[in-house]
Amino acid sequence: MPRILGSLVLLGALAYACQRDWDALHRRMHQHNSHNRHAKRAEVEYPPALSEVESILVNSFDNKSISEWSHYYTHGDHLGSHNKTMAEWTAQKWRDAGFDSFLEEFPIWVTYPEHSSLTLIRPDGTTHEANLVEDVLVEDDTSSYPNVIPAFHAMSASGNVTAEYVYVGRGTRADFNVLKEAGIDLKGKIALANYGAIYRGTKVKNAQDNGMVGCIIYTDPLDDGEVTEENGIQAYPNGPARNPSSIQRGSVRFSSLYSGDPTTVGWASSKDSARGNVSLYNPSIPSIPLSMKDALPLLAALEGSGVSAKEANRSGWVGGFGNITYDSGPTPGAVVSMNHLMRGSIEPVWDVIGVINGTSPDEVVLVGNHRDAWVIGGAADPNSGSAILIELANAFGKLLAKGWKPRRTIILGSWDAEEFGLQGSTEWVETHLPWLTSTAVAYLNVDVAVSGPRTNFAGSGEIQSFVLDQMKKVLFPEGWGEFPTLYDMWYNVTEGSISPLGSGSDYASFYQNGIACIDFGSDGGKSDPVYHYHSNYDSYAWMSRFGDPGFRLHTAMGQALSLLLYHISDDVLIPWDLPNAATVLESYLAELNETIVESDFPNLDLTPLEDAIAEFSEQADHIATIASQAHAFNDTVLLGVVNAKFRDFSRGFASAGGLPGRETFKNVISAPGIDNGYGADVFPGVTDSINGGKEDAAVEWIEKSAGAVRRAAEVLRVGS
Ligand SMILES: *[C@@H]1O[C@H](CO)[C@@H](O)[C@H](O)[C@H]1NC(C)=O
Ligand SMILES: *[C@@H]1O[C@H](CO)[C@@H](O)[C@H](O)[C@H]1NC(C)=O
Ligand SMILES: *[C@@H]1O[C@H](CO)[C@@H](O)[C@H](O)[C@H]1NC(C)=O
Ligand SMILES: *[C@@H]1O[C@H](CO)[C@@H](O)[C@H](O)[C@H]1NC(C)=O
Ligand SMILES: *[C@@H]1O[C@H](CO)[C@@H](O)[C@H](O)[C@H]1NC(C)=O
Ligand SMILES: *[C@@H]1O[C@H](CO)[C@@H](O)[C@H](O)[C@H]1NC(C)=O
Ligand SMILES: *[C@@H]1O[C@H](CO)[C@@H](O)[C@H](O)[C@H]1NC(C)=O
Ligand SMILES: *[C@@H]1O[C@H](CO)[C@@H](O)[C@H](O)[C@H]1NC(C)=O
Ligand SMILES: *[C@@H]1O[C@H](CO)[C@@H](O)[C@H](O)[C@H]1NC(C)=O
Ligand SMILES: *[C@@H]1O[C@H](CO)[C@@H](O)[C@H](O)[C@H]1NC(C)=O
Ligand SMILES: [Zn+2]
Repeated sequence: MPRILGSLVLLGALAYACQRDWDALHRRMHQHNSHNRHAKRAEVEYPPALSEVESILVNSFDNKSISEWSHYYTHGDHLGSHNKTMAEWTAQKWRDAGFDSFLEEFPIWVTYPEHSSLTLIRPDGTTHEANLVEDVLVEDDTSSYPNVIPAFHAMSASGNVTAEYVYVGRGTRADFNVLKEAGIDLKGKIALANYGAIYRGTKVKNAQDNGMVGCIIYTDPLDDGEVTEENGIQAYPNGPARNPSSIQRGSVRFSSLYSGDPTTVGWASSKDSARGNVSLYNPSIPSIPLSMKDALPLLAALEGSGVSAKEANRSGWVGGFGNITYDSGPTPGAVVSMNHLMRGSIEPVWDVIGVINGTSPDEVVLVGNHRDAWVIGGAADPNSGSAILIELANAFGKLLAKGWKPRRTIILGSWDAEEFGLQGSTEWVETHLPWLTSTAVAYLNVDVAVSGPRTNFAGSGEIQSFVLDQMKKVLFPEGWGEFPTLYDMWYNVTEGSISPLGSGSDYASFYQNGIACIDFGSDGGKSDPVYHYHSNYDSYAWMSRFGDPGFRLHTAMGQALSLLLYHISDDVLIPWDLPNAATVLESYLAELNETIVESDFPNLDLTPLEDAIAEFSEQADHIATIASQAHAFNDTVLLGVVNAKFRDFSRGFASAGGLPGRETFKNVISAPGIDNGYGADVFPGVTDSINGGKEDAAVEWIEKSAGAVRRAAEVLRVGS
């Protein structure tokens, strides 16, 4: 019997490290629409009218070329630090288009499994040995490549443990609490958690914090919406349902505490830089990812033992296997033997940088995508983004060939080692921080440009209205429903909600240093082909048959990204909507207020933050008026003043020092939730303090956050 699932659960399940955060988005759609300026669907001109330059850019995108770039990127091992040739190839492609391109190398801490095995031993002595790599499929050439990458958790600890195991649902703190309250002894046992809802490393941390000695995380069909074999849909490669042998690799670093190389947290990594101890930032127990096929016997062996699913009564606890009870266990005598030996070393990684100098070199616009993938393929994550960046470079090449020069300097970044923990981008930002702080106007991130048709983005308040305007100019491909433009698809997915930024991809270090950012991409919904996230089947074969046959979603995403880059780099006035930035702050304040009202400290006084946001709002309205006048009268001096303020004001948000216990997170507006790891908390200094039970610290962080907002407002102030 197919299970009927609420859409909240379905969207909540689709939270990917390298993607937009559906869980947070959906929460906002339901709770905060009244605060959201974009909640009303805008009228869209159709067909869109484009300027001559816009037409050149948009028409330059060719699905055939994009499929060629995709094919190149998805046919070779390019795990972080594994493939310098691919970096050089990328630099050459950008060079051919007219960019000045070069590699920057960073030595970083990487981990790789030397040996990994997982065996179930049932009470009757029978055993089941898990396969830690996907099945080879003749229909999918890269599933049988030499050097295929085994399924592992980067930054996992080594360990050789044999113990009884307990099913812990999603592996949230609340899930563990339910088990403890029911009297289940967790100490010395192994946790079996399903993927979904929160970041995988947080599940491992929760297991570790409860005295458990190992952690297994598996993919449950629950996360596949309506497209499941249970619902009679064929599995990949014969159909769009999940291949049961697919495994989600991923990093289990403590992502809400730091980004980048865990041996150089807070400073740039170089050959002779000082290095710290990684144990603060990574788990101390071994963890291993598992396919649904190999999790099934583990779940079955727990039937009838421990806490029943009904007693647990936790969201995401009962998964999608109709014949599994999802009892917690442990079952006496049912043990798992995990033998996991990780090797750690310092290895070089290569970022590719492409530059077009602008006529105003003290204003810089950056676009970036990571290049490294968990698997030989990586057709969606991240190389859908890599393929469109080459096509974007070629589109700008057409303008350069006509003698065009951007007003602002354009930088393209192809980051290495994102998957281990945003290493390539973070070390680059740390290396160039003083220059970025004084020149960066915005950083546009594209990671998974396409893993399905549902367009979405997260981003800073000032940039949102502009992004929507550009999406209205791009035609949405036919075959995915009646959506004339990208904007129409976006609105259908989000109902106008835009999430704040957490730390799911390479924008994190830019944003945490007060640089305006967006994270732009698209993924699948509950009825779209199942995307084999971080699995061998995130391949060219899957993409060209199921994900984006014809590569026309790639085309649309690339066209939109080009328009974003073109306008921010060349418009006379940086296209920010400051009044919207103020509205967004007000909506985050309301959200914080809800957190406070429901917390142990409902009487916390938010007045300082309220006043600071009111001041910000006043300066925002004022500079918006000045900006439109300067623009209308072509007052170049005043335009220069306004542009500098638009570039600089958001540095104020990062001016209050590091958040408690995670000093490299500095943006007082949003940061990844400590206990979630994907989704962002707003005013995280305050939220962290409340969650940590520290009222004095909460009061202090209301003041500090207010101070940061006031400094941003002060930068915006024009005249006296
Ligand atoms: C690097 O990637 C390219 C393109 O995918 C591939 O041809 C090459 O074999 C890879 N190099 C290594 C060392 O795996
Ligand atoms: C793991 O532990 C088992 C049992 O204690 C032992 O037989 C085996 O040699 C160990 N393996 C490694 C690689 O240490
Ligand atoms: C790092 O810290 C851990 C835990 O405190 C300690 O066991 C380990 O020896 C340290 N490693 C180094 C290389 O100092
Ligand atoms: C299950 O939990 C929900 C809240 O999460 C609660 O409303 C409901 O009463 C609980 N059901 C049982 C049977 O305890
Ligand atoms: C449960 O159903 C799956 C198919 O959904 C099947 O492969 C498996 O053998 C069944 N397991 C048990 C324990 O009955
Ligand atoms: C771009 O500007 C930088 C800094 O002024 C300079 O070093 C570089 O040579 C310029 N590149 C080109 C291609 O003109
Ligand atoms: C999204 O599109 C579907 C299919 O066309 C439609 O049923 C639904 O109402 C739309 N939702 C929104 C919010 O526009
Ligand atoms: C490009 O799109 C056209 C339809 O617009 C399609 O016929 C063609 O097969 C696509 N090319 C590739 C390489 O997918
Ligand atoms: C916070 O919420 C309370 C209760 O809903 C409300 O009275 C108060 O005005 C809110 N304060 C802010 C700053 O939104
Ligand atoms: C604005 O003024 C600048 C400098 O005086 C000039 O080069 C430019 O052409 C003017 N733009 C418009 C649209 O008039
Ligand atoms: Zn990614």
